[in-house]
Amino acid sequence: MPVRSAMPLSVVILAAGQGKRMRSELAKVLQPLARRPLLKYVLDTAQSLAPAAIHVVYGHGGESVPRAFAEERVAWVRQAEQHGTGHAVMQALPSIPDEHMVLVLYGDVPLIRRDTLERLLAIADAKSLAILTVLLEDPAGYGRIVRDARKVRIRKIVEHKDANPSELRVRECNTGIIAAPAKLLKKWLAHVRNDNSQKEYYLTDVAAIAARQKIRVVPLLASAEHEVLGINDKVQLAHVETIYRQQRVQELMLAGVTIIDPARVDVRGTVSVGRDVELDVNVILEGTVKLGDGVRVGAHCILRDCEIGPGTQIFPNCVLDRAIVGPACNIGPYARLRPGTALARDVHIGNFVEVKNTRIGDGSKANHLTYLGDAVIGKDVNVGAGTITCNYDGANKSQTRIDDGAFIGSGSMLVAPVRIGAGATIGAGSTITANAPADKLTLARSRQQSIEGWSRPAKAKKS
Ligand code: UD1
Ligand code: CA
Repeated sequence: MPVRSAMPLSVVILAAGQGKRMRSELAKVLQPLARRPLLKYVLDTAQSLAPAAIHVVYGHGGESVPRAFAEERVAWVRQAEQHGTGHAVMQALPSIPDEHMVLVLYGDVPLIRRDTLERLLAIADAKSLAILTVLLEDPAGYGRIVRDARKVRIRKIVEHKDANPSELRVRECNTGIIAAPAKLLKKWLAHVRNDNSQKEYYLTDVAAIAARQKIRVVPLLASAEHEVLGINDKVQLAHVETIYRQQRVQELMLAGVTIIDPARVDVRGTVSVGRDVELDVNVILEGTVKLGDGVRVGAHCILRDCEIGPGTQIFPNCVLDRAIVGPACNIGPYARLRPGTALARDVHIGNFVEVKNTRIGDGSKANHLTYLGDAVIGKDVNVGAGTITCNYDGANKSQTRIDDGAFIGSGSMLVAPVRIGAGATIGAGSTITANAPADKLTLARSRQQSIEGWSRPAKAKKS
């Protein structure tokens, strides 16, 4: 890790822009990238630098922005009217002590890496201004970096709209990310004027002001273009999401995961994996997901905040949400595990089975067409096809208990609260409303009968 100056760090994140091109009611920095708001990425990266403070300049979208981040330790600074990036930074400066280093980041540049920022901070000190730049094939719209005669330092930054033809040919662009000592930045910004094509106070003007004062204005070239991509519309949002997805999937593959088609796996959160995990196509992993050794996830599965034990197989088309699945289980195809599901070892949950807030013990099986809600199920239980725990009476939820080794015949309704004893057998088609004793056969249905003299109605004849 490069060595930073000893100055305390204050981060300023600009997030006041409207984001007109999003054509959305949602503030731009709240637009979701892999399910999390854009600004969240920048905040997390800023936090990873362990700064003394983070100031977020907000404006458009009003209080919805601070409200979305109520639990973050952030100083919110309102910029009621947006008069440019320089004006935005100025709003935060009064609460930043002179001896701090200021790092300016952007709420809509989410993929910037900690590493790059550390390198930028390593070349910044009390007597210089460090600017992150990038070489672009197509620099249209960006501020251009004009270097001095020796090409080592920056002489000024010219906005695209204010650039002359030779400046327009420059491919080195301003990313907007700078590191500057607070004391000097305050002085420079006091000199910035808005006599430009957009009538804005440009932060970029501090480069020329500093250079004129014989301050070292030093560039750092970003190593990857995508790191500094800003997001203005839904096309760019999707583009950055693709890059983000590729990065996450690449991390998984480098961690040893076999991915059948890297373009068809989505990671929208934090995934940790054991050895020899396999993901088939169209798997979506969201939130915090842990996959043990040898876990295989079939095509078209969604796993959100789940923990899957070693050797478990999830067959195609399953949806798992806040479920804990033990080792050597078989899930699906077409199973739904809802929050509060906890499966022990070697549990089988088959097609069209829904499980919610239910614990299931070792070796138990529910293989077909079943609803298990608010239940505690022991070991080696067999739940027949079409069994339903009737857990809701229209007002309250009640619990079903099925003890070790019980056998529930197909098509049974278990009306909770109810308990099925160990080793009990429930006859198929029973509606069980009272506890069933251990080791006995319990039936709750009318005896089969055949009606003498009954005949099937005939269609009325049309006259
Ligand atoms: C800016 C830079 C340009 C650089 C480009 C990189 C300036 C003048 N120009 O241009 O050199 O190449 O970024 O993407 O700095 N914002 C506020 N308050 C304001 C104005 C802007 O918070 O009053 C925020 C916006 O929400 C946005 C960011 O600052 O996140 C950049 O503003 P924007 O107007 O998009 O700057 P660009 O024209 O892209
Ligand atoms: Ca602008």
